[in-house]
Amino acid sequence: MKPLSVEDPEIAAAIQAELERQRNNIILIASENFASRAVMEAQGCVMTNKYAEGYPGRRYYRGTANVDVAENLARERCKKLFAGAEHVNVQPVSGTQANMAAYFAVLKHGDTIMGMNLAHGGHLSHGSPVNFSGRMYKIVPYSVSKETEMLDYSEMADIARKNKPHLIVVGASSYPRTIDFKVVREIADEVGALVMADIAHIAGLCAVGAHPTPVPYSDIVTTTTHKTLRGPRGALIICKEELASAIDRSVFPGTQGGPFMHAIAAKAVAFKEALTPEFKEYQFQVVKNARALADRLLENKFDLVSGGTDNHLMMVKLIKEGITGKVADETLERAGITLNKNMIPFDPATPFVTSGIRIGTPAMTTRGMRELEMVQIADLITTVLRDIMNEETIADVRRQARELCGKFPLYPELLT
Ligand SMILES: Cc1ncc(COP(=O)(O)O)c(C=O)c1O
Repeated sequence: MKPLSVEDPEIAAAIQAELERQRNNIILIASENFASRAVMEAQGCVMTNKYAEGYPGRRYYRGTANVDVAENLARERCKKLFAGAEHVNVQPVSGTQANMAAYFAVLKHGDTIMGMNLAHGGHLSHGSPVNFSGRMYKIVPYSVSKETEMLDYSEMADIARKNKPHLIVVGASSYPRTIDFKVVREIADEVGALVMADIAHIAGLCAVGAHPTPVPYSDIVTTTTHKTLRGPRGALIICKEELASAIDRSVFPGTQGGPFMHAIAAKAVAFKEALTPEFKEYQFQVVKNARALADRLLENKFDLVSGGTDNHLMMVKLIKEGITGKVADETLERAGITLNKNMIPFDPATPFVTSGIRIGTPAMTTRGMRELEMVQIADLITTVLRDIMNEETIADVRRQARELCGKFPLYPELLT
């Protein structure tokens, strides 16, 4: 068999170029990270060849002894990582599919879900009209307070009392503050709703105590495995024992056929890594780095949603700056800083344009950067955004960004 570079030079070149892009840019996309070499090795392994419909010990195919080892290890390690997890399913291939499987397990078509308003930080799969969730269920959104730009739990309780949802979904894609899962449980109990926490963004923080865990307060917890958790692209579901068989049936055969056994093996590796003291230290550094970056942006007179951050991300409001999120993220990318435009609460602009940008620290913290570098990065962002039309400034920041990246080698063992 030929190596990729010989079999398909075009794809090999694109992969090589992607490695260089990741190495040479300051990556601040809050949902991205750099998986370890071991995780990537497992994800690119021969288990991709194996069909294993079903679950360990109960498969619909022969020859599954080795993939059973991988899935059992992934399940055991995941339970250890999320203390109090009664049952886990490590098969979902994406966060959206995990949410779909969770809804299918406990809801009927047309039931009511209360989810966070997309423009205020929620995710498409929490009830957007363009997503299956908004098409199959009655969605009642809750928002952040106009004054504090933080979750308003008393308003959430009022909405719940009025609408009697079957399920309250709590969790976000662009919310910079701590979520009070205990209060959400109390609201749900008052109205007889189930609670699903989607911790896709903060899973790594929750696993080590850098954010309170939702596990004791939720009927179901879903998460992706590739964001702060720093595993392969994929997802998992944690649930109470009484929902275990409904969740398992909802994943397979409900929403998928053969599980991605190579990804499950890589999840097992990531969970092993996440159980180390280094991972705990990493998560707390992610939070410290976010605070340092946010503090410097505030010193530089930027407005941040809710005035700061408690977790791994922050949201910069650009209305006062007179630029859109779209212009900001395009220009910053040319300056070697990759992040994304994002709606801010009560945003007057469209989702394609937006009035904000989202900044996250998980990826650059994995590279080894600390508070000092975060201050430098905040200043580079400031330089570009305050001189947005100046090509010389953009080129100069691009050079500085590349230089900074060069001090923190990424995947040095991978060939250039
Ligand atoms: C809170 C939340 N849930 C679910 C998802 C969906 O994950 P995926 O992109 O794997 O479908 C995301 C992705 O960004 C997310 O932020």
